[in-house]
Amino acid sequence: MAGKKTTVSVIKADVGGYVGHSGMHPDVVAKANEMLEVAVEKGLVTDFHVTWCGDDLELIMTHVRGLEAADIHKLAWDIFLAGTEVAKKLGLYGAGQDILKDAFSGTVKGLGPGVAEMEFTERRSDPIIVFMADKTSPGAWNLPLYKMFADPFNTAGLVIDPSMHEGFNFLVLDVIDSKEIILSAPDELYDILALIGSPARYMIKSIYRRADGEIGASASTQRLSLIAGKYVGKDDPVLVVRAQSGLPAVGEILEPFAFPHIVEGWMRGSHNGPLMPVAFQDATPTRFDGPPRVIAAGFQVTNGQLIGPVDMFDDPGFDLARSKANEIADYMRRHGPFEPHRLPAEAMEYTTLPSLLAKLKDRFKNTK
Ligand code: F6R
Ligand code: MG
Ligand code: MG
Repeated sequence: MAGKKTTVSVIKADVGGYVGHSGMHPDVVAKANEMLEVAVEKGLVTDFHVTWCGDDLELIMTHVRGLEAADIHKLAWDIFLAGTEVAKKLGLYGAGQDILKDAFSGTVKGLGPGVAEMEFTERRSDPIIVFMADKTSPGAWNLPLYKMFADPFNTAGLVIDPSMHEGFNFLVLDVIDSKEIILSAPDELYDILALIGSPARYMIKSIYRRADGEIGASASTQRLSLIAGKYVGKDDPVLVVRAQSGLPAVGEILEPFAFPHIVEGWMRGSHNGPLMPVAFQDATPTRFDGPPRVIAAGFQVTNGQLIGPVDMFDDPGFDLARSKANEIADYMRRHGPFEPHRLPAEAMEYTTLPSLLAKLKDRFKNTK
């Protein structure tokens, strides 16, 4: 395969939860596996792995068709439609939840599913980590991505590996105004932080090594609420990060998740809570529909084959983060319907406030 580029496409959607919005039914996963087996036989995809995080079906695929390939997106779309049918038969909850528009025209972008893709020429050995989260939105990646690719207190390689020393370019998306900008670390660290510290608006979309433009990370940045114009669930994002040999080491990529930072999402997509790193078997957010959680699947990409996955957070090294997350979850829950546990009204997206205000309109008296 020398010279031929490999594309990793991670495409995900919630096509029905089991039970409620907490988990995945095995029949939905089986359907996806079955259809992807056929796609391999046809030569459409090289390899695949199907998994889930909470109620989100995650299709991890490799192929040689490049970014935003219409036939790969169509395949994912057809799998989500078939998964929805399975979910409907079983009466799973919110069947077809992320199928927001039913007119496929070459891409799943803008239709509901989330997409993170990257294309690269395989190095002699190419480790990747696929992060998948439930009960939160794509801005949740801002803090860990910053730490991985710009913070020398997290990533020792930024200081001591000459091939990383020049730093990285960050492609940052403004999802409100639909604009994007490239900012360079370390020169523009403060500018980067000024933007990505508002993760509901500015989201890191991808990261490239400055020295040669090599891709390091690619995140899904779809925002379901902006697509649908009303609340339809949090976006439950995915992220692909490439590791080692002049990119952050596997351990440097995982390290930011040892700090369970606060993200928006959780119950009814309307609460702040800690992002808990968990093993695959614990990817079932049940307490108050949460707390938000993230799994990490490690693969070696070899001639387009996905060698793996390894369950990267299945490590006692993350026990403290989990227990800290539980402690924070407890603390936040005690606020009940008060901010900052509950999101500010304009960020809630799932609210009775407008109708409540309309109902009380005539009872409000002017105070001056
Ligand atoms: C959040 C989420 C859940 C639901 C909640 C209410 O992303 O999926 O917390 O918002 O379970 O769900 P409905 O409105 O479907 O009863
Ligand atoms: Mg759901
Ligand atoms: Mg979900």
